[in-house]
Amino acid sequence: MKTTVRIGIDGKDLELPTVVGSEGERAIDISSLRKETGYITLDDGYGNTGSCRSAITFIDGEKGILRYRGIPIEQLAEHSNFIETAYLIIYGHLPNRAELRVFSDLLTDNATIHEAMRHHFEGFPADAHPMAILSSMINASSCFSPELWQTSNSDHFESHAAKLISQVRTIAAFSYRKSLGRPIIYPNPAYKYTANFLHMMFSEPYREYPLKPEFVKALDLIFLLHADHEQNCSTSTVRMVASSQANLFASAAAGVCALWGPLHGGANQAVIEMLEQIRQSGDDGRRFIVAAKDKTSGKKLMGFGHRVYRNYDPRAKIIKKACDELLAAANISDPLLDIAKRLEEAALNDSYFVERRLYPNVDFYSGIIMRALRIPTQMFTVIFAIGRMPGWIANFKEIMEDTQSRIYRPRQVYVGPTANDYVPLEQRD
Ligand code: SDX
Repeated sequence: MKTTVRIGIDGKDLELPTVVGSEGERAIDISSLRKETGYITLDDGYGNTGSCRSAITFIDGEKGILRYRGIPIEQLAEHSNFIETAYLIIYGHLPNRAELRVFSDLLTDNATIHEAMRHHFEGFPADAHPMAILSSMINASSCFSPELWQTSNSDHFESHAAKLISQVRTIAAFSYRKSLGRPIIYPNPAYKYTANFLHMMFSEPYREYPLKPEFVKALDLIFLLHADHEQNCSTSTVRMVASSQANLFASAAAGVCALWGPLHGGANQAVIEMLEQIRQSGDDGRRFIVAAKDKTSGKKLMGFGHRVYRNYDPRAKIIKKACDELLAAANISDPLLDIAKRLEEAALNDSYFVERRLYPNVDFYSGIIMRALRIPTQMFTVIFAIGRMPGWIANFKEIMEDTQSRIYRPRQVYVGPTANDYVPLEQRD
């Protein structure tokens, strides 16, 4: 259904085409605006601006709906696993047995990083943040696959995508072991993706890590729930870099950097730090809520609020339930979970949060599960990056396959000094 909208500018009527998405979302195509009127649009934070057409993930923020390739997140969380969902997100359909076998074998065969990369880990200080290590080591890893920049992005895509998904997990585990001064543990081809990650994180040369099924399942769910989320900050960054026809690894490394920020993927680490601070201060949460509402405090209720969700983040609901199940199954009690639940209860009954439609997001409870798995807080955003890799790869693939794709190059409204002349040094005193 091709429709148009009319806007009047400087006494001139302009008719602009609209675009209607498969779920009824409507957009005004302004690609002719500047040519026709000399105007550009300005949209701080891109809150009202679509950067692309995408067929990967659909979110209805008003209703709290999230679907990967049309399948509701609740069904995938219940019936699928991270690797099957990764295939769905990247290739657009649930894999049959043969496709899953090929994909799984590619991940197993690409799990180790080039041996020469090991000494790169020696170059980082023991307390280096693992997100800094991850972004640099993803690019370092590309140096051992020169075909990444010697051929077009579409050649070897399948093997590069599998290598990236598999190696991001190995690099993450190696950086954790390095931070402890412990010997690195190589992947074990007998283990599936998530179990292998826990093995590489927590086994010792003399003792295998006892893989508890409930721990593997909980972490696999975390990865699955983080796998994609339409045009969030880090995914938009990946698309920005991919639009210049940079290679897959360079685009993903840029995504890691964007994800690191505490307003984005870094929030899961910030939530735990917030809960710890509340616990140590003896606050029952009420003082913190007051501070979070006070703009001058510099504090926010981390893990709350979302640019798109004006309702409960469906992932947060699933993670909160998984928290209760995991802690009960593992007979763990975590005081931070109790504080988190009290904070949620207080916020959801506080007009400041209710009026602004601020609800728990994916980061509010995810750290509780990672704590139960003994994953250190500094690794939480790395876990998010491992989970988000399929979504970044799928968005990279969409750009790569779009024959109409153009380099992303936004305009600006210049507000700096108007034309003025150079002043020689001797005249500046
Ligand atoms: C992720 O985009 C995605 O999809 C991201 C993500 C993904 O899967 O990729 O879902 C993952 O990044 C989740 C978000 C994690 N970040 C946090 O939990 C950090 C805390 N949240 C906020 O910083 C904030 O809610 C954002 C960054 C998430 C959203 O920011 P917006 O859309 O720019 O909203 P805003 O800052 O304009 O807030 C609107 C109002 C403001 O108050 P007023 O100016 O109207 O008086 O709500 C207030 C804000 O001050 N507000 C908060 C708040 N979040 C918003 N006040 C206190 N605590 C908060 N957490």
